[in-house]
Amino acid sequence: MILWVALLTAHCCLVLNGAAAESTGLERIEKCHTRCSQGLHCKAKPDYIFRPPCQEAAGGLNTSSVFHNVSFSTVLMCEGRQKCSLQLRIKTALQLTESIQGVSICTVTAGMMMSCRILKFTRSSWKAMSGMQVEVENDCTSVSPNQRVQVVVKTLPSFCGITWTGTYNAPACISEDMRRHVPDCITGRLSYNVSLVKKELSVSVSEMMEDHKYNLRLCHKDFLCSGTGTHLLIKKEELGKSVTLPYSRPLPCLCIEGWSAMVDAPRVQVCPFKDRLKELWSGITFDPLEETLSWELACPVATVVALCQTREDGVCVDLPNASRNVSRGKISFTEVDPHPQLCVKFTVGSEFWTRCPFADGRLKEWDVVVARRGDREEVAVTSRVNAAFSVGLCVTPAGAAECRVNATQRVHVGENEAVSLNLTDKVCSSCVQVRRLDVKHAATVILCVEQCNRLAHGVVACGTSWDWIWVFMQVGAWLSGIITLSLLLHVLLSVYQRRRKQRGSEKQQDPPHDGVLPALQTHQHGGILIPDSPLCGNTEKANLLSQ
Ligand SMILES: *[C@@H]1O[C@H](CO)[C@@H](O)[C@H](O)[C@H]1NC(C)=O
Ligand SMILES: *[C@@H]1O[C@H](CO)[C@@H](O)[C@H](O)[C@H]1NC(C)=O
Ligand SMILES: *[C@@H]1O[C@H](CO)[C@@H](O)[C@H](O)[C@H]1NC(C)=O
Ligand SMILES: *[C@@H]1O[C@H](CO)[C@@H](O)[C@H](O)[C@H]1NC(C)=O
Ligand SMILES: *[C@@H]1O[C@H](CO)[C@@H](O)[C@H](O)[C@H]1NC(C)=O
Ligand SMILES: *[C@@H]1O[C@H](CO)[C@@H](O)[C@H](O)[C@H]1NC(C)=O
Ligand SMILES: *[C@@H]1O[C@H](CO)[C@@H](O)[C@H](O)[C@H]1NC(C)=O
Repeated sequence: MILWVALLTAHCCLVLNGAAAESTGLERIEKCHTRCSQGLHCKAKPDYIFRPPCQEAAGGLNTSSVFHNVSFSTVLMCEGRQKCSLQLRIKTALQLTESIQGVSICTVTAGMMMSCRILKFTRSSWKAMSGMQVEVENDCTSVSPNQRVQVVVKTLPSFCGITWTGTYNAPACISEDMRRHVPDCITGRLSYNVSLVKKELSVSVSEMMEDHKYNLRLCHKDFLCSGTGTHLLIKKEELGKSVTLPYSRPLPCLCIEGWSAMVDAPRVQVCPFKDRLKELWSGITFDPLEETLSWELACPVATVVALCQTREDGVCVDLPNASRNVSRGKISFTEVDPHPQLCVKFTVGSEFWTRCPFADGRLKEWDVVVARRGDREEVAVTSRVNAAFSVGLCVTPAGAAECRVNATQRVHVGENEAVSLNLTDKVCSSCVQVRRLDVKHAATVILCVEQCNRLAHGVVACGTSWDWIWVFMQVGAWLSGIITLSLLLHVLLSVYQRRRKQRGSEKQQDPPHDGVLPALQTHQHGGILIPDSPLCGNTEKANLLSQ
């Protein structure tokens, strides 16, 4: 029961669709006609282009009083299923007077001669109907799809100044009706399946011109569609079967083009990968000697190409002055530092894609490293090439997300060298920011060393805390010195007094100072590492760089 209802519904809707398709189609005629309203007899004949000069119009006649309503429409004249031609139907309402014996209709299209025909009223009917409004219609002008036609309507005989002129645009091959039945519009219809794995398109053609072979090819669409070399001619008897076209890259501008094997046949194009823009962002090349990054846009798509640097959160931040607009062809960025974080961002409209050609680090030319030298750790810049760097101490203010560079300096590192930055004791809660200077486009590397506690000798801070340590050490040293000296003096005195008691006449000697000096020298040696308190900030800056 339910099935039956479903079948009925399907049937009803198919019929409706069919009817709808018919009703949107153009009116069909078998032969072209000239028609005049009832009672008026008229005959059409071709006209000579050179006609006698116009006559002076009788009083009161002008164009708008004679031609009331000139209108155009399009009909199809068919001799077979695929043999329809587009016909321009011209219809005009005409105010008859005794002097008007007919009308002439001329059409002109770009690059063509003017073509005219006259509709002549029979003498008896025109005399009888004088003063009445009549209708005249003719549909014997063939036009091509999309053609622009100029139409000039005059009376017969021709009166000076009484001329109606208008323009008609023939419909384009948009309607289903025309695409099936007007040869100028029959391209064939392509359907396809894609095998991305095999890199093949299987294509089948329907609704093509019967009795003609059919061409299929792959092409890259730009101003024209230029062939890729893949071309097939399908024989009449093989039409309807599917054929295989291999392709190399599924580019958005790769199209299948099909047309019947006849002169000036209209063509159809379908582009199976037109939405696969991401296919365009491959093929970035880098010349390490020239330090040039190049890429070619394989399809004409307006693209903004920018160099950018990936952050830890994955966002790629545009580098300054490294954005280009490109819609076709090759672009290059010169003097590019092939750092793993340096990427290329492609933007089309509101979408963007990022590609990082150096991400594998194979071409990486320099690095900032923390190296251990003896019991110290130090920050060094190593480089495979002779290069200059800007090095800055980067401080993160409380609450800020990014650090700010205070002072930067230039460091030169020779080929396969490492240059120590002597920074380690200053980077507590701050970071080093390093960027190559001898190239146009470079990533900025930030290295944060969180190891203050591990550094030897507490050579960490400057400022008040140090001052107190210094004072205590100083005071302690002096105290111990004085105590040592006193003890020494005391010992010497006792000995002297004992000897004096023993000898009675020996002279008193000065105490020997050498005894305390080693203690003081040791202390001063420890102080060499520590900058003077008032100069702390400046020294920090001066020591920032090793050169
Ligand atoms: C044409 O003639 C009619 C009457 O014959 C008149 O009313 C009209 O103004 C004229 N139009 C022009 C443009 O002269
Ligand atoms: C002019 O002719 C068109 C087409 O025949 C018709 O639709 C329209 O009503 C006519 N207009 C006048 C003012 O007669
Ligand atoms: C595409 O695949 C479908 C399902 O496999 C098949 O019915 C159809 O004929 C194929 N079309 C072409 C053009 O190969
Ligand atoms: C950007 O490039 C232009 C021209 O190439 C140059 O004049 C300008 O100084 C550059 N700006 C920066 C920040 O490099
Ligand atoms: C790229 O084109 C856009 C508009 O299309 C323009 O606003 C932008 O400045 C251009 N950029 C460059 C680098 O030329
Ligand atoms: C930058 O350096 C100057 C002088 O050396 C100093 O006064 C200032 O506090 C420093 N700024 C930061 C954010 O460290
Ligand atoms: C960096 O430190 C090392 C060892 O502490 C020292 O020999 C070298 O001279 C220092 N370089 C600079 C530029 O201060």
